Amino acid sequence: MLLQTIEQALAQVPYPTRPEGLYEPIEYVLSMGGKRLRPTLLLLAHGLYGGQPEAALPAAVGIETYHNHTLLHDDLMDRADMRRGKPTVHKKWNDNTAVLSGDTMLIMAFRHIMDCPCRRQADVLRLFARSAQEICEGQQYDVNFESRTDVTEAEYIEMIRLKTSVLLGCAVQMGALIADAPDADCDALYRFAEKVGLAFQLQDDYLDVYGDPKVFGKKIGGDILCGKKTFLLINALNRADADTRSRLLQLLADSGCEPEAKIQAVTDLYNRLDIPALTLEAIDRYYAEARTELQALSLPQEQWQPLWDYACSLLGRNK
Ligand code: IPE
Ligand code: IPE
Ligand code: MG
Ligand code: MG
Ligand code: MG
Repeated sequence: MLLQTIEQALAQVPYPTRPEGLYEPIEYVLSMGGKRLRPTLLLLAHGLYGGQPEAALPAAVGIETYHNHTLLHDDLMDRADMRRGKPTVHKKWNDNTAVLSGDTMLIMAFRHIMDCPCRRQADVLRLFARSAQEICEGQQYDVNFESRTDVTEAEYIEMIRLKTSVLLGCAVQMGALIADAPDADCDALYRFAEKVGLAFQLQDDYLDVYGDPKVFGKKIGGDILCGKKTFLLINALNRADADTRSRLLQLLADSGCEPEAKIQAVTDLYNRLDIPALTLEAIDRYYAEARTELQALSLPQEQWQPLWDYACSLLGRNK
């Protein structure tokens, strides 16, 4: 139901027709689906405090437009060719298009959010601007870590908190602010979404190795080829004995190795070190922590249960 409302609102955004090269890629990326996770979280949080979806729809459209802006730039940075089962913007058009259409989406996101009048609009805009800056910080750490082999799990968690959790936190807090929720609830919702975001990114790292590309919509093994310091790789390096560790590092550094062979060899090592089970356990742990945050809300459980159920529907996601 909410999903339909979001899809309709996204489809109704009027885009200028010219210059085509700027707006066509934006319509392309925003019309190719995706889970619409962030606007759904925003509207669910808003609804908890009595808000009607229409009152927060421009903000929901804004946050999804912003998310898609990050994807255009992220795919360019990660040299990723596929997203949601389709060629990425820099592949279908070119790098400059991904930069400039991506920039335009960031600006349009602000404009959508500014079109959502509410008593706490200044807080909403401050939250959004701070979140957008933190996401850049996370993306920079993600890039920095590619050339390091000593990234700790704590550094990794802080990196994914910034690149992924912050936007989920921003979405729920924005929904709550628009509905004029109490400050303590706005903060508890943020912490809830932060924990869900950590689990969500761990699962994304897992699916990058173990997902079915037809369902996941992205190419498998991209993180291994980029030397991304994912939860899987950091824990494999920690668990491996000295010989396995140097074999793993050698494999990752080997630019002559066929991509498919490299992905297979690293995956075999992950399997031998029991990394899939370790990752799934960590995901469950973050979910348990997320639930504790919801219990701190001023609302009775029957009211926040749909938000919890929605978060749980992402557990074991395969796309
Ligand atoms: C992709 O986000 C980027 C990550 C934070 C892992 P989603 O998995 O929400 O992507 P879509 O919007 O559903 O395609
Ligand atoms: C997602 O990181 C973070 C942002 C897009 C800000 P990833 O690089 O893992 O996302 P995917 O896997 O390409 O969707
Ligand atoms: Mg990426
Ligand atoms: Mg990335
Ligand atoms: Mg990923």
